[in-house]
Amino acid sequence: MDRKKARDKIVDTINDLPTLPDVIHRLLPLLQDDDVSINALLDVIGKDLAISMRLLKVANSAYYGCMSQITTVRHAITILGLRQVKSLALGISVFDTMRGLEKKGPLDYTMLWVHSIGTAMAAQLMSKFVSDTDSETAFTAALLHDIGKIPLNALFPDECRQVAKKALQGMDCFEAEEEVFQFNHGDVGGWLCVNWKLPAALVQPVQYHHHYKRSSAAWKDLTSLIHCADVMSKLAGIGTGTQPVKEIAEPNADTATPQEDLSAVLSKKRQTDEQQTSAVPFPSLAVLENLQLNITDLNTVLTELAAGDQKARSFFNAIS
Ligand SMILES: [Fe+2]
Ligand SMILES: [Fe+2]
Repeated sequence: MDRKKARDKIVDTINDLPTLPDVIHRLLPLLQDDDVSINALLDVIGKDLAISMRLLKVANSAYYGCMSQITTVRHAITILGLRQVKSLALGISVFDTMRGLEKKGPLDYTMLWVHSIGTAMAAQLMSKFVSDTDSETAFTAALLHDIGKIPLNALFPDECRQVAKKALQGMDCFEAEEEVFQFNHGDVGGWLCVNWKLPAALVQPVQYHHHYKRSSAAWKDLTSLIHCADVMSKLAGIGTGTQPVKEIAEPNADTATPQEDLSAVLSKKRQTDEQQTSAVPFPSLAVLENLQLNITDLNTVLTELAAGDQKARSFFNAIS
């Protein structure tokens, strides 16, 4: 397929999509502000009934496991946290805006949402182990990371079926897209985020989550983190419904977890997986080393994600 023609068709369609709702443009400056007050947030969000209702549902969902019923948006914001509310409002609005595109192609939209929520959960958990990474920005970027798949499937359903076929034969989805389109869904997501005037902290991880080395120096760690969270949510079986949680480390690895042992453990694991032709990809060693994540950190994240599929589904039911 001609790269320029495909890109032009996508960009033209993106330009015709509705802009993000006004509430988001009023929220974006607050997204950068760490000292935002609950009243300022309530003033913006309380005026958007659709978002307010869904925040209430999320706060009451099993995801947050609250014992008592939450009936006011103010209480919901207290439960969810000011910063999480901003991320969620943005994520919900972006996915809502994409509803205008006709559902075609092989993409399972529920699975995409559940996988995106799972990746957001993984990114938030992993950000605790990576210095200088903001957990809410990581959560939001991860929630949006695969958003480009929606316009790609809506506009090129036949080509996306070819991609799905190649993926079934063992090729990575983004590589199959690059063979067919000369770009991948990350690029499409990046064009979308630019069109919506979202900050570079979101554009770069979305665009380059399959090619973290291409991101600019300022966003390389965040982009690597999203790449890794994407893989971790797949390893934890979130959104696939079939993959069991896999332990990355050898059973005794947690007793000896120096950073230098990580490569050896992961290489061994990768070789075993290759022999078993596992369809689940593996975090790139270079990424893990760059983020200074060790095997104990990864296993902590995987353990926390053990009930992730169920949690992500309850989250999805609340916001859909
Ligand atoms: Fe992706
Ligand atoms: Fe993904």
